[in-house]
Amino acid sequence: MSTKTHDTSHITYESLLEGNKKFIDNALKSDPEFFDKLTSQNPPVLWIGCADSRVPANQITNTNPGEIFVHRNIANMVIHTDMNMLSVLDYAVNVLHVKHVIVTGHYGCGGVLAAMSNKEFGLIDNWLRHIKDVYRIHAKELDAISDESQRASRLVELNVVENVYNLCKTSIVQNAWMNGQELNVHGWVYSLATGKINDMKVSTSNNNKLDDVFKFK
Ligand code: CO
Repeated sequence: MSTKTHDTSHITYESLLEGNKKFIDNALKSDPEFFDKLTSQNPPVLWIGCADSRVPANQITNTNPGEIFVHRNIANMVIHTDMNMLSVLDYAVNVLHVKHVIVTGHYGCGGVLAAMSNKEFGLIDNWLRHIKDVYRIHAKELDAISDESQRASRLVELNVVENVYNLCKTSIVQNAWMNGQELNVHGWVYSLATGKINDMKVSTSNNNKLDDVFKFK
């Protein structure tokens, strides 16, 4: 993989506001009603992704403002006591009535790499603990991978899969399914190296893959 770094020295506080002017010009040039159409939102998708600056939901899916509702945190985690995530999910499912929720991780995720190590990083260690739990659940498979970067990539994938299941187990998704609401959940992993999305093929719209104890009936 290339080790080139992205030069961000031209990004300044002022340049962001200049960029905003260009954004408005371009948006109105492509559609004079661009902002009129965004007085309300009706996105069909909720994206739960990593905070990493290289994985912007709209750009990598070629979508526009108004089309994806977004929640991002370190390593795209779905933690069942995280009020921030739960509030976004509740609003997306029960007010916006999104049809799809997609957990999107990415190869080379710093959060996953940190969780795989034995180093101490400070407060974030308590967040990364959840990824260490994913490792524990899949230790047999992961320990058998001798190449460290391959093991990290597999943990990225397994972390997405486990977080898709975490999502299914929330009271919000359980209630939606119990009430017959159409709601599909998916797990993706994005490649920083190629820009390609790898579908983890764990998409589901029902409780079939969950242990009985998690099912609302
Ligand atoms: Co990441």
